[in-house]
Formats: sequence, C-alpha cells, structure tokens
Amino acid sequence: MQDAIRTGVSMQVPLLDLKAQYATIKEQVMPAISKVCESQALALGPAVADFEEKIATYCQSKYAVGVSSGTDALLVSLMALGIGEGDEVITTPFTFFSTAGCVVRVGAKPVFVDVEPDSYNINPSGIEEKVTEKTKAIIPVHLFGQAAQMKPINEIAQRHNLAVIEDAAQAIGASQDGIKCGNFSHCGCFSFYPTKNLGAFGDGGLVTTNKETLAQKLKILRDHGQSPRYFYGMIGGNFRLDGIQAAVLSVKLGYLDSWNEKRRQNAAFYDEVFSDTPVQSPKIDQNNVSIYHQYAVTVPDFWRKTRLVRRYSILCRCICRNASASLATDLVIYRLPNGFAMKFSRYRFIRNCHGNR
Ligand SMILES: Cc1ncc(COP(=O)(O)O)c(C=O)c1O
Repeated sequence: MQDAIRTGVSMQVPLLDLKAQYATIKEQVMPAISKVCESQALALGPAVADFEEKIATYCQSKYAVGVSSGTDALLVSLMALGIGEGDEVITTPFTFFSTAGCVVRVGAKPVFVDVEPDSYNINPSGIEEKVTEKTKAIIPVHLFGQAAQMKPINEIAQRHNLAVIEDAAQAIGASQDGIKCGNFSHCGCFSFYPTKNLGAFGDGGLVTTNKETLAQKLKILRDHGQSPRYFYGMIGGNFRLDGIQAAVLSVKLGYLDSWNEKRRQNAAFYDEVFSDTPVQSPKIDQNNVSIYHQYAVTVPDFWRKTRLVRRYSILCRCICRNASASLATDLVIYRLPNGFAMKFSRYRFIRNCHGNR
C-alpha cells in the first residue's frame, strides 16, 4: 500500500481485512481447531490451559485466566476484588462502553476523569480530587494500544488503598518502561474480539494477574463459583473460554509480535504522511511501546464544519483515495461541557494499521 500511495496509484484498502490474515494462518489454524473437535473438550479444557500458559509467558505475568470476553474479564475482576453496591470506581469516559458498564453491573458507580489530549488516556492529575471514602478502584484504559501513565496512577492507588484494574482490551503486547500492559495492577483485562490485535474466531478474553490468590478466585468465579465441582462457595458466572477459541489464539499468538511490529511500521509511515498537515498523529510517550490497535488522529476544530469531514473521512484524501476509515461517534459515555473527550469522540477519525498487510 505504501508504494501505491507514493506513486499515486489508487487501491482499495478495507478498514479491517480478517480474510487476508486468515489466508496466512489457515494451514495452522484448521488442524488446531480439528484437534479440539476430536477431543470434544470444548469449554475450558486442555487447549485453554495450554493457551493460558503461553499467554502468561507472553504477557510476563505469573497467571493468565481465559474468560469469555473482554467485558467478562472486567466483570469477573471487579467481582474478584469484591467491588459492589455503593462503591465508586474511577475511570475514563473515553473508552468502549463496557468499561463503565461493568462497574454499573456490579452495583458500583463509575466516576469519570477526563483524558490527556495527547494520549487520549485518563489524566492522572485529575484522579485524586475524585477520590472519596467510597472509592474502591481505578480502571485506567490503555486506549488504542498505548499504556496509560501507570506510575502516577499506582501512586495514587497506594496512597488511598485502592485496587487497580487495567482495561488492556486494546493493548496486548504494548509496554511501558519495558513492562507489558496487564502487569501494572491487580488485574489486566484483555479482549480477543475478532478485530483486536490478537483476535479469536468469535468472543474471548483474558485476565492476567501476579497474585496467586486472585488467580484462584478468578478461576472459580469464571465457572459459576464452583470449587470443587458442584460446590458453590461464591456467586460467579459463566465466563468460560472455549477450547476452539483458545486453539485459534494459540496459533495467532505466534504471529502477534510480527503483526504488531508491522503496525508500528505502518504507523511510522502515516506519521510521515501527516507530518506537514494540520492532522495530529498519535503521540506515543517515549516510555511506551504502542501496538497501534487504532491509528487515531485529531483534526483541527474548524475542519468539523466542512461537509467532507462530516460525511466521509479526510483520511481518504490524505492517505489513499480509496482507503476506508471510520468516523468514531459511538464512544461517548458522558458529555463533557467543553471537554476533550466529547470533541475527540465526534471528530476523531480512526484507521487500523493492520499488521497483516
Ligand atoms: C477498551 C475496551 N474495553 C473493553 C472491551 C470489551 O471487550 P469485548 O468486546 O471482548 O467484550 C473492549 C472491546 O471492544 C474495549 O475496546
């Protein structure tokens, strides 16, 4: 694609092309699925245990607990940490809906702190003023594949004895100061929704932790709270990961680093393209390695008035005539009077920079 842009040749670039990725791994994925089918160990089972071992190593975490989705990873983490009725949880408004949705589902109240304009991640300097005696946890989100500022966030959490849960749904393989996302807190929550950098053939998720007791509790909670079988010591849910998804994920995990690296190369190319335009490219903190789950840009305020920007993507013109991009309008959890999150959400353009292209 980069050659086509340089030479001005027009080509069709879909926002996400999972078929292209599948073509490169089909030969490995199909036997892996077939093996699970032969075993009929379909819910949890050996394929899940094997994947958990591999992904724990990849994530540099002591424990990895496979669950049914990124949403359930957040939910079961909140449950495991005992967050519930009457509690408050500080998080960012600029995220996928389920970050705050899960807080409400356990009976707690999400309290929002605005984002930093450069990283789009929660601004640590706004957190402490929102801490009350009801606050029990902070959920930073590593949005678009870049880690939130975990050092100041953890300092605040320690001062006030709060739990921290990383919403790392978009950040598998991303790191800060050489430490992989998912290791800065009690629980790291990942999503394997098909469009994620590491995507299953359906839904899937993961919780990483470095605490043994927490890992044990998470495993019990993901299977209705039973331990041993048919003895229910706590109320959990059906948050189990399927064997087939784990088998697919194990294959894809072998490619993840090279796909992420390709995304970084593509992002560097986009940075170059945008360097002499008013488009603000993603700013990656020097301590972070981003996996560019999305390449999100900010456009100047006055651009929103143009019909072109409203109706279609300016990226189509800036990058490649036929490239598709999406206008993000669905990310607002609450409206800020004049805040950044609202602005970004309505006038931000997202483009994946797939590692498999
Ligand atoms: C930031 C964030 N949190 C949570 C989720 C929820 O993950 P899932 O779709 O696997 O339930 C997503 C997925 O889109 C996400 O992007």
